[in-house]
Amino acid sequence: DRSDCRRPGILPFLCAVITCSALSALLFVDFIESWVTSMGMNKVVEPHIGIIPPQSVPPTRSEEFLLMPSPLVCQRAKPYLIMMVTSAPANQRARQAIRDTWGGEVEVRGLRVMTLFMVGVASDPGLAKLLIEEAREKGDLVQGRFLDTYSNLTLKTLSMLGWTRRFCPQAHFMAKVDDDVLFNPSALLHFLNKSRNPYEQGDLYLGRVHLHVAPDRDPDSKHYLPSGAYPPSVFPDYCSGTAYVLSRSALLKISLAASASPLSTPLPPEDVFVGLCARAAGVLPSHCPLFSGGPSVPYGRCCYQAMVSIHHIPPRDMLHYWADVHSPPPCSWLNVRASLGICKVRAMLGTTLGLEQGL
Ligand SMILES: *[C@@H]1O[C@H](CO)[C@@H](O)[C@H](O)[C@H]1NC(C)=O
Ligand SMILES: *[C@@H]1O[C@H](CO)[C@@H](O)[C@H](O)[C@H]1NC(C)=O
Repeated sequence: DRSDCRRPGILPFLCAVITCSALSALLFVDFIESWVTSMGMNKVVEPHIGIIPPQSVPPTRSEEFLLMPSPLVCQRAKPYLIMMVTSAPANQRARQAIRDTWGGEVEVRGLRVMTLFMVGVASDPGLAKLLIEEAREKGDLVQGRFLDTYSNLTLKTLSMLGWTRRFCPQAHFMAKVDDDVLFNPSALLHFLNKSRNPYEQGDLYLGRVHLHVAPDRDPDSKHYLPSGAYPPSVFPDYCSGTAYVLSRSALLKISLAASASPLSTPLPPEDVFVGLCARAAGVLPSHCPLFSGGPSVPYGRCCYQAMVSIHHIPPRDMLHYWADVHSPPPCSWLNVRASLGICKVRAMLGTTLGLEQGL
């Protein structure tokens, strides 16, 4: 209450303290989020699990892919970061918006980057033909041998892990990104560099970590997972599937665990599946507050410049935001802190009030 602040004594002091705390919390909301999340995380690697020897898993074969760029694509481009975008055959506009924005980048902060799209088989013959043409014209499609449906998303991820392990072992990091995500390779490389990571050698499974999620036991839900397919009452902590990053060694371990594990019917959701394989491989997820994947993040120029991934972005907005984010003037440190704080708080309020769609 403002009138309280004018009274002499302890109240002005209290008001000042509260205002300062609120402002600091706003400026450092991402640090607070990291801290709170890491408090809730399970940091114990179970002793019985470990690395699966590569020779025990059959190598990925080229025949598993109906369309793909040259097998030498990574040998030639030597990407430091490969961004694998999971896309549905019909989403041509989303793929083109990505090519015209972040997916078109080839060098970011002095490091080579590359973007490819992972699709399945289209059931519609007309669409299948268009996909072949698109692959020929753009040379950036990888098509796995499975029907592209929502319930087969986990197969798409399995296929993507296998392809990257076999054809892109050069990449230090792989990002899995959905095709409605505004991804920011520059912010990611900045974050990786700033955290002075041992990751370049070690394991990294980075994204927005979901904690203590229970399997969906509702038979009518599209994520239904009966206890026969997955008996435990919670999933291990896992990164939201909208966008996550794996280091080379984590990719190898997780993809070997994925190829070695028997597939349940129905399959767990894509991101849970990766979390289960990571757990089986002894790789723990790391939380990064710069990945959205929970609530939608309202647009703020400096906020979007700092965020690594923002989802629920339609193609037209992607083009518009990308151009705006990269237009002058540059964002100062304070601009970034304030904008990030404001857009995160707005996102949280949106979820709390049920104004935005979650997940
Ligand atoms: C990483 O950080 C160092 C030192 O701060 C800097 O010189 C270098 O350009 C950064 N690299 C990237 C890729 O951001
Ligand atoms: C998943 O893909 C397989 C292989 O193409 C196919 O047989 C199966 O019907 C698909 N599942 C669904 C639910 O679409």
